[in-house]
Amino acid sequence: APEPATLVIFGVTGDLAKRKLLPAVFGLWQDGLLGTAFNILGVGRQDMTDEQFREFALDALRTSKETDEIQEGSLEKFASLLFYTFGDFADIGIYERIKRELDEAESAHGGRKNAVFYLSTPPSLFEPISTGLGSAGLADETEGWRRLIIEKPFGRDLQSALDLNATIHAHWQETQVYRIDHYLGKETVQNIMAIRFGNAIFEPIWNRTYVDHVQITAAEDLGLEGRAGYYEEAGVVRDMLQNHLMQLFALTAMETPVAFDAGAIRDEKVKVLRATRPITEDAAVRGQYAAGTVSGEQVVGYRDEPNVKPGSKTPTYVAVKLEIDNWRWSGVPFYLRSGKHLPKKVTEIAVVFQRPPLGLFPGGAERNVLAFRIQPDEGVSLKFSSKTPGQEDLLREVVMDFRYDAFGAQLESPYSRLLLDAMLGDATLFPREDEVERAWELVAHILNMDVEPQPYTSGTWGPDAADDLLGHDRRWRRL
Ligand code: BG6
Repeated sequence: APEPATLVIFGVTGDLAKRKLLPAVFGLWQDGLLGTAFNILGVGRQDMTDEQFREFALDALRTSKETDEIQEGSLEKFASLLFYTFGDFADIGIYERIKRELDEAESAHGGRKNAVFYLSTPPSLFEPISTGLGSAGLADETEGWRRLIIEKPFGRDLQSALDLNATIHAHWQETQVYRIDHYLGKETVQNIMAIRFGNAIFEPIWNRTYVDHVQITAAEDLGLEGRAGYYEEAGVVRDMLQNHLMQLFALTAMETPVAFDAGAIRDEKVKVLRATRPITEDAAVRGQYAAGTVSGEQVVGYRDEPNVKPGSKTPTYVAVKLEIDNWRWSGVPFYLRSGKHLPKKVTEIAVVFQRPPLGLFPGGAERNVLAFRIQPDEGVSLKFSSKTPGQEDLLREVVMDFRYDAFGAQLESPYSRLLLDAMLGDATLFPREDEVERAWELVAHILNMDVEPQPYTSGTWGPDAADDLLGHDRRWRRL
């Protein structure tokens, strides 16, 4: 059974907590995965009583699309586990109050001092909160475990990430720190490792001898969604490339870990990131959406979005070429792209194999493709050539398709998996400090926000220049 514990959520009245975290915790709790000695302490700046917070939380659960089916009487019982405290995060008083609340919960938990502190706040608060908790003695693990979950973005460049790590480590050991990248909580992302290392047929061809190149796409049809304040400072390189895409890349390119545990897997991810060359200006294309039509709807250009600076150069699209200097991948480019207001939402990793050495059949020979469909229509497919029925020896590309539907199970929210892992002390699916720092190094040259991005019409696949990145013999997959 899970150990007694308290989950402390900072920024609990924020959007993420409301839409994702509370429903995820509720689902885990209702499934009995959090045990009976469990409490949630919400922390915010807003003045609220415990009672008002319970109402707030129940309302969030009733309205979120991510809430599991609610069992009879379950909401009321869940509500009784919730407490709230508020104040200024820069003031030591709030940490003293949190400590008192924890003491109370923990005596009811048989004296075990287990707590996870989830920082679901703007990044400027990561430092004051982790320091405040530490100074109040709340990182101390002598009578239980204390863990810190930190939302993204983790820094805005290498230096700020180094500084943030140093500040955190003044009070917290690295083993206590869980940096969230919600892509790692996705079932289909974990399946990259399962397919690669749980089968014998893929790994032998997963290298420069057989692979021509790899394409990783994270396309979104959504635009800014009213997040100008954040996005103007971040842009797509910080919002998607440095974290989510780099993680997909590392899982696809890494060597076989010696064990399936946090240390071994993260070691391999760091190793391949170290072997990867920092992206140069000429290996990157940045774009920004102009007005257009997405999914049948007219949308304005990025610069005309509310609260975007006139003439903003914030990129909303990026495509890059990664080169890896190691034995397995030397000479095999990995192309990564992500953008807002593209034609549809689709995330995919495609391993594109080399053509057969001889084109024996009319029309030449196509490249086989193994594609991991991360979302939606989750699955894995293999594209290869087959003879078309008839007198002629004509080949056509066909697809062998595995769909997650086959399991007949609903895919869980990535947040439930990650929250549970943190409660269980499993850091496998959380990027370690050296990974995050190396990922910043890789994008360092393309972080400059003063470069004019290339406009692309909303609802298209990004600027034309992204095609040139692949050279004349390769093409982005049509998704
Ligand atoms: C977030 C980004 O981390 O990931 C958003 O801040 C983006 O801009 C989102 O839309 C995409 O996540 P998902 O799970 O919908 O692919």
